[in-house]
Amino acid sequence: MQKISISLLILIGSLLSASADISSPVIGVLTQEVYLDGLISRHFENKTSYIAASYVKYLEGAGARVLPIWIGRNRSYYEDVMHKINGVLLPGGATWFNETNGYGDAGEHLIQLAVELNDQGTYMPVWGTCLGMELLVFKLAKGKEHRIDCAGKGIALPVEFKEDYNTSRLFTSISDDVVAAMVKENVTYHWHQFCYTEKDFEEDLLNETWRVISLNHDWNGIEFISTIEHVKYPFYGVQFHPEKPLYEFTKTSIPHTAASIVAGQYFSDFLVSEARKSNQSFTNATEQALRLIYNYKPEYTSILGSTYTQQYLFTKKEMGLEEIPDIPDEGGDGDGDGNGGLYPYPIIVDGGGGSSTILPLFSGFLLTLVIISIN
Ligand SMILES: *[C@@H]1O[C@H](CO)[C@@H](O)[C@H](O)[C@H]1NC(C)=O
Ligand SMILES: *[C@@H]1O[C@H](CO)[C@@H](O)[C@H](O)[C@H]1NC(C)=O
Ligand SMILES: *[C@@H]1O[C@H](CO)[C@@H](O)[C@H](O)[C@H]1NC(C)=O
Ligand SMILES: *[C@@H]1O[C@H](CO)[C@@H](O)[C@H](O)[C@H]1NC(C)=O
Ligand SMILES: *[C@@H]1O[C@H](CO)[C@@H](O)[C@H](O)[C@H]1NC(C)=O
Ligand SMILES: *[C@@H]1O[C@H](CO)[C@@H](O)[C@H](O)[C@H]1NC(C)=O
Ligand SMILES: *[C@@H]1O[C@H](CO)[C@@H](O)[C@H](O)[C@H]1NC(C)=O
Ligand SMILES: *[C@@H]1O[C@H](CO)[C@@H](O)[C@H](O)[C@H]1NC(C)=O
Repeated sequence: MQKISISLLILIGSLLSASADISSPVIGVLTQEVYLDGLISRHFENKTSYIAASYVKYLEGAGARVLPIWIGRNRSYYEDVMHKINGVLLPGGATWFNETNGYGDAGEHLIQLAVELNDQGTYMPVWGTCLGMELLVFKLAKGKEHRIDCAGKGIALPVEFKEDYNTSRLFTSISDDVVAAMVKENVTYHWHQFCYTEKDFEEDLLNETWRVISLNHDWNGIEFISTIEHVKYPFYGVQFHPEKPLYEFTKTSIPHTAASIVAGQYFSDFLVSEARKSNQSFTNATEQALRLIYNYKPEYTSILGSTYTQQYLFTKKEMGLEEIPDIPDEGGDGDGDGNGGLYPYPIIVDGGGGSSTILPLFSGFLLTLVIISIN
């Protein structure tokens, strides 16, 4: 009997230490509501939330594993998740923050819990990309709207670093080569209809809690904030999409140059290095295995007209939900038309400066012809 319990303890211990290995952090990526009248609901039954697969690949490509965080759940769900993962990514997308039980509500729980954990001495990084950065600032400003309209859709831009950028946590160990690439070439891809300016940040002294590290100019020359880090917490935000040059191929305006790949990879490497500082883990390996993204398969949605190459799509049952979250008619920001709601036909319209008009159905048809002729 004693032998059994000792070997059981050893087994549990080894499972625990394996899952507590900070060399392989687990990062939670928040899901987001799809539109009822959109592309997803026309092609898939009962799928009410999604994660663009590019965010998953982006984190995996830097050595992390991904756990989908469901929208629409109660506080105890978010508390449980936040005590097991090593970091959070709030992705971009297109929704309003006021949708009941949607992205905004879930993000509020995650951000509040991350503040609590960090205050208690548990390292919990939170990264916001595009709409995710907007949400992070919005929630920490106690829900006061500071965004302005911005002509930021479909531009690739260099990073305009502020003078002291290299004293920020985010860029303190960046190499001169990567900086040179970021400054000289159009390496960061912007797709947003809102943005923050330094003037907005001064109004409610957001400038005292957020450090602005880089700026950019939209199509109309309006200067906006493109990179921030929180002064006190390991919270970071970028208005651009570092994952798109690496993993999205739906618009000709997305850069895929060698420099843009190096630049994008810098940000994922950084976030994962932050997550490695957290030693939280799941109770056991089985629990972890059952919750990771590997339990789901991404769909090839760009061929149906999505601006995402692939998406993970989830039913409310998979999300542990009884009720469908309230779903917007159309989106709020970010990489906008990801779920097609804006386009009645599966046509990808290039958001800026590009020649591409891909007709996915037509190319699917061509692909079929090619396959038939190969066979
Ligand atoms: C969608 O939900 C309905 C109602 O719960 C169910 O009858 C149907 O089988 C579901 N479809 C799929 C593909 O899961
Ligand atoms: C939260 O939801 C879970 C199911 O997901 C349920 O078991 C639990 O009772 C709920 N807690 C509260 C406080 O409502
Ligand atoms: C949510 O916010 C958007 C944008 O501010 C607004 O148009 C919409 O009416 C709001 N919806 C609700 C339910 O308050
Ligand atoms: C930041 O860059 C300046 C100018 O290139 C350099 O002199 C300084 O040592 C750098 N500081 C850090 C912390 O790397
Ligand atoms: C960056 O893009 C702008 C247009 O937005 C263009 O004028 C400029 O030449 C590009 N720079 C490089 C280095 O490609
Ligand atoms: C923030 O903005 C206010 C108002 O312009 C200014 O007084 C203050 O010095 C700024 N703080 C920082 C850290 O820049
Ligand atoms: C995690 O780190 C904290 C603080 O360094 C330490 O007290 C705790 O024992 C560690 N937990 C595990 C599971 O290693
Ligand atoms: C693993 O953890 C889960 C959640 O805490 C628990 O329900 C389950 O019994 C555990 N399994 C093992 C084998 O310890």
